[in-house]
Amino acid sequence: MAILVTGGAGYIGSHTCVELIQAGYDIVVVDNLCNSHKEAIHRVSELTNQSFTTYHIDLMDRELLELVFAKHDIEAVIHFAGLKAVGESVERPMKYYRQNLYSTIVLCEVMEKFGVYQLIFSSSATVYGIPKQMPIDEDAPLGAINPYGRTKQMIEQMLQDLAHANPHWRISLLRYFNPVGAHESGRIGEDPGGVPNNLLPFIAQVAIGRRKEVAVFGNDYDTIDGTGVRDYIHVVDLALGHLKALSKLSESSNLQVYNLGTGRGYSVLEMIAAYEKASGRKIPYRIASRRPGDIGLCYANTAKANAELGWRTERGIDEMCRDSWRWQSMNPNGYKQEEVFAEQV
Ligand code: NAD
Ligand code: WQD
Repeated sequence: MAILVTGGAGYIGSHTCVELIQAGYDIVVVDNLCNSHKEAIHRVSELTNQSFTTYHIDLMDRELLELVFAKHDIEAVIHFAGLKAVGESVERPMKYYRQNLYSTIVLCEVMEKFGVYQLIFSSSATVYGIPKQMPIDEDAPLGAINPYGRTKQMIEQMLQDLAHANPHWRISLLRYFNPVGAHESGRIGEDPGGVPNNLLPFIAQVAIGRRKEVAVFGNDYDTIDGTGVRDYIHVVDLALGHLKALSKLSESSNLQVYNLGTGRGYSVLEMIAAYEKASGRKIPYRIASRRPGDIGLCYANTAKANAELGWRTERGIDEMCRDSWRWQSMNPNGYKQEEVFAEQV
């Protein structure tokens, strides 16, 4: 029996593949590499000393996906594949609705056809939109404020309807807060194409000298130092949350929702200071205006995941910055360097 990991070459997927293999699971990966590199898969294999099958296909290609299900004895799916850039989703909404919704529809239909009913879905704290209470618990009202977030909210709704219609389904909706950091080996990590949208990869690229300074988006929020506060979670803790959710799938009711965060927030300036400490480098920054659509404060109530999944984060801000820096300094150009090298030999 194998776990199918969609989007397994991506940032969170690759870290989860490592933890799955190390916990003894067989895995099969499907990824169209639209936002990732084959090299990530090679490194997962190297880190775990295990080979596994990876299909370079698009989830929307039903025929090919059916071949994957026909060939492997799949018991559960962890569905990471999707587009995730908020800004791009505002500019190209149909690309996001098409790719995120349709790939999930095809996946669920193929799963039903092959009698595979266990699914873990990558949702996001973004579904809460502008939260009215802090910390945010799973019962807080939803109200995503951009097309990307709305695709996540719509998929959640679709999966709830599916679970309601067919009691065979066992579905876990995991709402991630702000994943950061990298595997402690420094071999796999986050490798954004172009200008990073998120804070930590931007700080990392300033630290390594690829960018001049961090623009801090607003210092007039009602927070500890006026800058935005977020619940950053180490990607390995997040990956381990998936293993817990997987082991609980068959025991729980047929649809569950969990926040995956640490329950504590850090400001932009606190993150910059922690990164300076971890890297031993000065991180120049300037205060810029607020980013449209940003909120001041966002952190999770993690009580439900702690109690029901028996899961707790173990890595704090120092480990997040240390591991991000190790990855960034060992791979100043992300995965590209080795691909170029491989093409030359
Ligand atoms: P990522 O872009 O690194 O990984 C996604 C992977 O899916 C990529 O390897 C991409 O090539 C693949 N993919 C995309 N569309 C596909 C398709 N149609 N068929 C096959 N493969 C496809 O992103 P990530 O940061 O690892 O995020 C994983 C999931 O978690 C996404 O669904 C994302 O929306 C969600 N999420 C991410 C964050 C975050 O900040 N990173 C926060 C909350 C939720
Ligand atoms: C964090 C803080 C910024 C960049 C986004 C998505 C969300 C989810 C995670 C997928 C904020 C500030 C940032 C910079 C800055 N992704 N910042 N300068 O906005 O919480 O969430 O990623 O689901 O959907 O919206 O994360 O890392 O962009 O920002 O000052 O150059 O850093 O204002 O306070 P965010 P982020």
